[in-house]
Parts: sequence; structure tokens; C-alpha cells
Amino acid sequence: MSTVLGHQEESMASAATGRIRRKRSQVEPSVADMNTENDAEGQEDEQAEDRDSYVAHEIEEIDKLTELGIGAAEVKKYALRARTLKDAGFYTVMSVMMCMRKTLLCVKGLSEAKVDKIRDCCGKLVQTDFISGTQCREKRKGVYYISTGSSALDSIIGGGIESASITEAFGEFRCGKTQLSHTLCVTAQLPREAGGGNGKVAFIDTENTFRPERIAAMCDRFELHEDDVLDNIHVARAYSSEHQIELLTHVAARMAYDQYALLIVDSATALFRTDYTGRGELADRQQKLNRFMASLMKIAEQFNVAVFITNQVMATPDGAMSFQADPKKPIGGHVMAHASTTRLSLRKGRGEQRIAKIFDSPMYGENEATFEIAEEGIIDPKD
Ligand SMILES: Nc1ncnc2c1ncn2[C@@H]1O[C@H](COP(=O)(O)OP(=O)(O)OP(=O)(O)O)[C@@H](O)[C@H]1O
Ligand SMILES: [Mg+2]
Repeated sequence: MSTVLGHQEESMASAATGRIRRKRSQVEPSVADMNTENDAEGQEDEQAEDRDSYVAHEIEEIDKLTELGIGAAEVKKYALRARTLKDAGFYTVMSVMMCMRKTLLCVKGLSEAKVDKIRDCCGKLVQTDFISGTQCREKRKGVYYISTGSSALDSIIGGGIESASITEAFGEFRCGKTQLSHTLCVTAQLPREAGGGNGKVAFIDTENTFRPERIAAMCDRFELHEDDVLDNIHVARAYSSEHQIELLTHVAARMAYDQYALLIVDSATALFRTDYTGRGELADRQQKLNRFMASLMKIAEQFNVAVFITNQVMATPDGAMSFQADPKKPIGGHVMAHASTTRLSLRKGRGEQRIAKIFDSPMYGENEATFEIAEEGIIDPKD
């Protein structure tokens, strides 16, 4: 049987972070939604060392700020502050560096001077300035790929869904977006060498389509224990677009304390589409969607997790008149186009076969792959 993070292993991991690729400090790590976390003040030596030995996707919890040589009374004070920052969704040092100064000023009890001090300390703990191309290449070595279940599909996207980036799959109903999401929930838990991400999965379900039964059906194929696999998938049902945005704060909090490999949002746009209707609300919708996508990207980069989102399509009014092979366009316009790193267009083929086409990618040119939806998830075509 392949190994999946079981209960025992899980608790050991949270204690020692043994199987986690990220370096963590001793206290609870931080999760950060779009913003960041934490504070504290600092000393230099350790941080300078950290910078020299550049480590990809290092996570520093906000509590680390309390270790930076501040006196006992002040440590207590900052510990309280840190809690305030966590309440505000800042769980990691990086999350603080990723947010605007004005956002930190909104945190209760933080004065301008304190915010400056916190940012100063955070800047000493994490790399925020220029790095060389060589360091960038080193950093990219931490990136991993989660298999889609189909080797044909994997091969056109470099081996699977990439960590530290957003992969979007769009297409009309029944084209396999949800089935692909379910398959990824299982493969994400496989060891890296088996095409997995060796981590847990957070699943934001906006359409009530998550089915544990489908996961169970896929476990046999990968020789995994159904209970272990289901234990490692954390599902949240989102009821409104606002709720969907709020959930990212919880996701960040979880990722700060535990090893996750994948975040799925199925679908990323459906609730925005229903909550904001008509042209009058379009600007507002796009602004909120943009905020959501920016938060997703921060989570992807901060925790080196793969983010997989699904999107619907709409018919273009001039579609029938145009010469386009497929006149349907993904929802979300330019916001989605710019925010997603890799975009896959899915369409139906013969029977249970589906065709995935690279619609946009920073690494790969236009290419197509055929896969099939089966009881055991996404597979290569049988014929
Ligand atoms: N157990 C199964 N065995 C084989 N094929 C299945 C199974 N369950 C679902 N399918 C196939 O998957 C299709 C549904 O795909 P999926 O739910 O991924 O669509 P989707 O792209 O998410 O659509 P929507 O836009 O409505 O959410 C079904 O029409 C069926 O062809
Ligand atoms: Mg679906």
C-alpha cells in the first residue's frame, strides 16, 4: 500500500514537521490569507543567516517575532499583539509582508509606529528583496507537480498541477471539472515520487458537488486507505461569495499548522456570478473576484501548495457568427485571465472522453490531451 498521511503520521508531522518541506519555527505556524501576519521585532544575526542560506518556501510563524530579543514584558505584549494579528488573519511573517501597510493599520491596537516596527522585523525574517536567477532556480526546485490521473494530460502541463501557482480548468457542464478535482484530492496525498504532493487537501465546495463516495472509489486504484484519504481532505461548503472569501483565512490558518499540498475551489466563480447580477454590479463583482484570486495566489506562494480552481463558461453573443471553433468564453474576464497561472480549457469528446487544451501557460505552448472519466477517476483513454 502506498503511504498516505495517516493519523499517527499526521500527529508526528505536526510535532516535528518531518515530512514537511517547509521550515517552521516552534510555535504554531501562521497561515495567512491574503495578508500576512505577524510581527515582532527583531535582531539580526539569525535572520542574516537565513537569508544567506536561501531556502525555498520557508514559512516563519508570526510568533517568531517574540523571539527576537525583546524583553520579557514586551514579549508578552507582542504575544498579545500577535494574537490580534492572527485574529485579523495574519498567521505568517510572509503574510505581513504581502499586505499593504494600510491593511495592518486596520488591525485593532496597532499604531503607525508599531506597524513600522512589525514590518521592519518581518523584513528581517523573510526574503523580500531581489534574488539572483540562480537563487530563483533553487527556489523553483521546491515546486512539485500533482498528477491529474491521466499521464496524457500530465505530459502537456509539465507533470501535473504545479505547486505555488494557480491552475484553472474551465468548460461547460459535464466536462469533468469536478471529477478532476476529486481525483486530485487523492493524488495530492501520494508521495512526491509517485506523482503526489505528500500533503493534505483543502476543498472549497461552492456547488455542493463534493462526494466522499467518489473519493472512496478512487482509493483502490492508488492502493490507499479510504479512511486515511478522507481524513486528509478538509471540505468547506461556501454559501456566498463573501463566505468563500472568508474561508481563505481559515485555509491559511490550517496551512500554517499542517502540511497541505493542494487547495481546490470548485467552482471559483459560480457564487460571484449569482451574488452579483447585471451590468450595474459588474465592476463590484470583478473587484471582489480580483481580491479573492489575489488571496489564492498569496496562499499558493506562501505555503507552496498547488491551487486548482474550476470555472464555468458562457456563450459569447457573437459566437455563432464568428469562426471560432468553440465560441464559449470562461467567466471572469480579464481578472481570471490574469490571475490564473495555467488555464486549461476542457471540452467533451467521444463518450466519456474529454479533451483538455492549454489555453494559457507561462511555460507551455498550445497543446491538447485526451483523457477519460471513469469510476476510478480521471484516466488515460482506454482506446
Ligand atoms: N462514477 C462515475 N463513473 C464514470 N463517470 C462518471 C462517474 N461520475 C461522473 N461521471 C462522469 O462525469 C460527468 C460529470 O463530470 P463533472 O461532474 O466533473 O462535470 P463538471 O465539469 O464539474 O460540470 P458542472 O459544470 O456541471 O459542474 C458525468 O456526466 C459522467 O459522464
Ligand atoms: Mg462540477
